[in-house]
Amino acid sequence: MSIVSGKNILLGISAGIAAYKTASLVRAFIKAGAHVKVVMTPASKDFVTPLTLSTLSKNPVHSSFYNEDDENAEWNNHVELGLWADYLIVAPATANTLSKMAHGTCDNLLLATYLSAKCPVYFAPAMDLDMYKHPSTLHTFEKLKSYGNIMIPATSGELASGLVGEGRLAEPEDILAFMEADILGKLPLQGKTILLTAGPTYEAIDPVRFIGNHSSGKMGFEIAKAAANLGAKVILITGPTHQKVSHSLIETIAVISAQDMYEAAHRFFENVDVAILSAAVADYKPKEVASSKIKKEDTTLTLELEKTKDILASLGAIKKQQLLVGFALETNNELEYAKGKLKKKNLDLIVLNSLNDKGAGFKTDTNKVTIIDNKGNMTAYELKSKTEVAKDLVGVIIQKLNA
Ligand code: CTP
Repeated sequence: MSIVSGKNILLGISAGIAAYKTASLVRAFIKAGAHVKVVMTPASKDFVTPLTLSTLSKNPVHSSFYNEDDENAEWNNHVELGLWADYLIVAPATANTLSKMAHGTCDNLLLATYLSAKCPVYFAPAMDLDMYKHPSTLHTFEKLKSYGNIMIPATSGELASGLVGEGRLAEPEDILAFMEADILGKLPLQGKTILLTAGPTYEAIDPVRFIGNHSSGKMGFEIAKAAANLGAKVILITGPTHQKVSHSLIETIAVISAQDMYEAAHRFFENVDVAILSAAVADYKPKEVASSKIKKEDTTLTLELEKTKDILASLGAIKKQQLLVGFALETNNELEYAKGKLKKKNLDLIVLNSLNDKGAGFKTDTNKVTIIDNKGNMTAYELKSKTEVAKDLVGVIIQKLNA
């Protein structure tokens, strides 16, 4: 999954011959999972049709503050468009539009939207080679960059004039790749690796039966997504679950038993920056696993169970640089037990959820947690969706990593 998946990208098109490439650019953004809206300068409609772009982007395309031909026309709100966008990209950005952007000129909808946008702004210039290296153009680039705008440089090659040189609009896939790399590079967990356990474990009784639990894996998968969305590489070790995730930064390792999970966690632990153990690991497993299906014979059946290895405690015993985060699901004396586990297992953070709280725990979409650190700091959160809880936890982890 691309880092722009689910993000709102506003594409501003100005009037250059390279505008024909914006059809492919919109497609590339859509294929990457982004939501796309397009705003055009009036003159750019001579180079590519709004119909093409609205069809590809699946959104109406705007080029003026209102439609002059329609007496019931609605006002196209540039502020709303600017606020909608997670990213604004002006491509192709002509010398004229760039100069106006640099000076705050605001004589069309694209420029008004640019001035209203609060999000990161990229601009991909396209013009003839002499225009591209003219001192005033170079001055414009510098001015725009000094405002925090990000330039996606033009490339060299044959230009519309027939001349060969610098000034070609970057190819659509290169514009997308540039934006992805830029966004990733600025994310707070960029360069960090996180090991995560999630879901239940199944402990075999015989070839057809097992001891399991009701964990859905939802919480763990949400944490994986929240961390990956902030740039972390996530190694997600998951027990059997119906959860699915597809993200370029998440590597999923499927395991079944507590022993499998233990081995997988130890295989990766040494080189990670953070380990978050959210799995509901079985505490006990059958001492003997029957090699063939156990037949019902007597009125009772006794299984002898033995303790599984405590993965969290075993990592706590060997941890060095790693920030170690555990979970505690309690029904009584919650804080006391959670603090006890934090200390005993040598954790940096523990996430406590109480089964006494309605909407918390297994199989729900919500959770209510208290996060406690090894210095005794404690934050109790409201009942929230597991997506939001995951974001809160990842936020606390970022603070800890930067402390
Ligand atoms: N955990 C683990 N390996 C186990 C058991 C638990 O890694 N074999 C981890 C869980 O992923 C969770 C934390 O330990 O992060 C839960 O702690 P634990 O002491 O197991 O809690 P409970 O199972 O609730 O313990 P108790 O039954 O003693 O309350």
